[in-house]
Amino acid sequence: SIVYLNGDYVRLGDAKISVLDRGFIFGDGIYDVVPAYEGKPFRMNGHLARLERSLAAIDIKVDLKRADWERIVHDLIGRSGLGDCMVYIQVTRGVAKRDHAFPKGVAPTIFCMVSPFVRPGAQVREQGMSVVSMTDMRWLRCEIKSVSLLGNVLAKQHAVDNGVDEVIQFRDGYMSEGSSCNIWMVKDGVLLAPPRSNLILEGIRYGLLEELAEAAGIPFNARPISQQEVDQADELMLSSATKELLPITTYNGKPVGSGKPGPVYAKLREGYDRAIA
Ligand code: PDD
Repeated sequence: SIVYLNGDYVRLGDAKISVLDRGFIFGDGIYDVVPAYEGKPFRMNGHLARLERSLAAIDIKVDLKRADWERIVHDLIGRSGLGDCMVYIQVTRGVAKRDHAFPKGVAPTIFCMVSPFVRPGAQVREQGMSVVSMTDMRWLRCEIKSVSLLGNVLAKQHAVDNGVDEVIQFRDGYMSEGSSCNIWMVKDGVLLAPPRSNLILEGIRYGLLEELAEAAGIPFNARPISQQEVDQADELMLSSATKELLPITTYNGKPVGSGKPGPVYAKLREGYDRAIA
């Protein structure tokens, strides 16, 4: 497949970067993942705005303007010939002699690739996901979509080791997010999520679900959610570019609510399907 590397389109096997790249040495970079349906990027503006926020947060400057990013995304999708696909965008601080401080006069490394998007199927949509709780051991700048993903990698492996699909992380007794998704809770008909803060990555689906809840007449409240409340949830669900919106039906080995996808999930899912159609 064809990827984008520092201004050129090259075959994946020909795309090479230095071992001194700071992404490799320090995890010093950021990324984003833009989903596309039938070749059409979904909520690209939101993703590119977040990419720009991540770059600004770690003080990496790129010459590319919004329209340049859009062109790369469209070019890669077009060249791939794929319908449903994911565009991965990564920017690192570039190649320099190993020194923790920012190097001067170094160009960032810009890499983009596209891969097939295997959408969650009917089975998982109808039966839901299983999750276990764990302590959030990540740093305090989770709002940056950093390629330093060791905490997230260990969290996802914790799920695998426990034979479940995902985790729900808690910091100081309050829900933060999954290993690579946002978590939503329903209690007494109210949709709840942790507020936007440095403790979670604000998913592009966060704003989308706010809109879908409002359109469906579902009250939404962004506030800290305690571990005790999650134990008593009527519904739990998760969202991400790759998982879209999925119900969580097993939590720490016990059924969530009825053990089946709930009515609030069903309404939001209807809205999601309409939004991507
Ligand atoms: N992950 N929280 C974390 C820690 C994430 O990594 C992601 C996305 C989200 C959801 O964000 P969005 O709705 O914009 O996908 C929340 C992507 C898909 C990934 O790392 O592959």
